Amino acid sequence: RNGWAVFSLNCCYFIFFFSPFSVDPAEQSLLNKLIRHNLVKNRNQVEVLQRDPNSPLFSVKTFEELRLKPQLLQGVYTMGFNRPSRIQENALPMMLAEPPQNLIAQSQSGTGKTAAFSLAMLSHVNPANKWTQCLCIAPTYELAVQIGHVIEQMGKFYPEVKLAYAVRGNRLLRGTTIQEHIVIGTPGTVLDWGLKLKFFDPKKIRVFVLDEADVMIATQGHQDQSIRIQRLLPKDCQMLLLSATFEDSVWSFAERIIPDPNIIKLKREEETLDTIKQFYVVCKEKEDKFSALCNIYGSLTIAQAMIFCQTRRMASWLSGQLSSEGHQVALLSGEMMVEQRAAVIERFREGKEKVLVTTNVCSRGIDVEQVSIVVNFDLPVGRDGNSDNETYLHRIGRTGRFGKKGFAFNMVDSQETMDLIHQIELHFDRKIVKLDTDDLDELEKMMN
Ligand SMILES: *[C@@H]1O[C@H](CO)[C@@H](O)[C@H](O)[C@H]1NC(C)=O
Repeated sequence: RNGWAVFSLNCCYFIFFFSPFSVDPAEQSLLNKLIRHNLVKNRNQVEVLQRDPNSPLFSVKTFEELRLKPQLLQGVYTMGFNRPSRIQENALPMMLAEPPQNLIAQSQSGTGKTAAFSLAMLSHVNPANKWTQCLCIAPTYELAVQIGHVIEQMGKFYPEVKLAYAVRGNRLLRGTTIQEHIVIGTPGTVLDWGLKLKFFDPKKIRVFVLDEADVMIATQGHQDQSIRIQRLLPKDCQMLLLSATFEDSVWSFAERIIPDPNIIKLKREEETLDTIKQFYVVCKEKEDKFSALCNIYGSLTIAQAMIFCQTRRMASWLSGQLSSEGHQVALLSGEMMVEQRAAVIERFREGKEKVLVTTNVCSRGIDVEQVSIVVNFDLPVGRDGNSDNETYLHRIGRTGRFGKKGFAFNMVDSQETMDLIHQIELHFDRKIVKLDTDDLDELEKMMN
């Protein structure tokens, strides 16, 4: 996974450490599911694009309005949901509609998508019919199991509905026809079960869910398998596609797989930038960056901070330095197992450590609400050497949430880094202010 690449640039040679922080999107998604106990609060606007603009916009503020089966309503409340999340307000009426409507929904993880489509599947099952009626595919074994747990919890008071896992290792006798109403699995095994082994009849599927579309298309072969599965289904089958992000590639995949969709999107996070003050600090080298960091952090003793480094090596050096200065430091790094990472985040979240040093592994999707400072010890750079604007946004988006003030500090140690700062300013059309770390009175005033 790691490698060295040598670039020649204007007759100088740079050795560039290549993607030691490449994040496995499926692992990232699993991590988010493991550390999430509650829905993320979201202030962002929901955009709804209706296929039929003549039918009135319909959204709900309570679960009662959805007229769910009482057993399911009980399941919803037992899971601790009191009212629909922003995305659920709009998505659930569409998902539960008769006749069924197709839907593409995009929102960050933790906004209630899994619960929404689980509810849709459970609602559309007729338990008296002993055959598979709903099919859900997810990119990995672990993610399929996680989704299955949500369905099981949600359906706790509706035990007539049965669930089967079409995942590797789950072998059935040839010639079996399964009676489970809902099948959840990974694309390869689902394709085997439906097409080759005929464990269920794809023509009898009423609801098809493709979860984590962005992760799905990042895996070789999954895209084709998903399309092959979709082709087996009846025309009037309800199709739902969920994704945390929506790059062009996800979008074109979604359009191929979901005919005549309604679309729901949570507006982008850019607006949160307005609650974040962004600074840059000029330093000479890493020791200098370190003392600047200590200066800044010293004037902000109560706050929790997340510090991002480009490499694991830098991250472990920095956390060592900070520890020797007496700080309680947590280190999160790519070589850790997902469960270990979840434990580190949990401790940080509980406030056991004030500082979290990390590489890119934890920049996406992880909500640690109390962080008021984000430090880019190294700025995020893309493969092309330009600023990685998305990653920058994800990193500093950890701060300034829920109307709180947030602060982002960028350490600048070369002209190249300064150029990155300018690119980021240009990209987001926001100013990044120069900070003099010898005079932090202004900063302290701002923060307190
Ligand atoms: C980030 O934005 C800047 C300014 O718009 C642009 O020059 C740069 O190419 C962008 N970076 C990437 C990786 O797209």
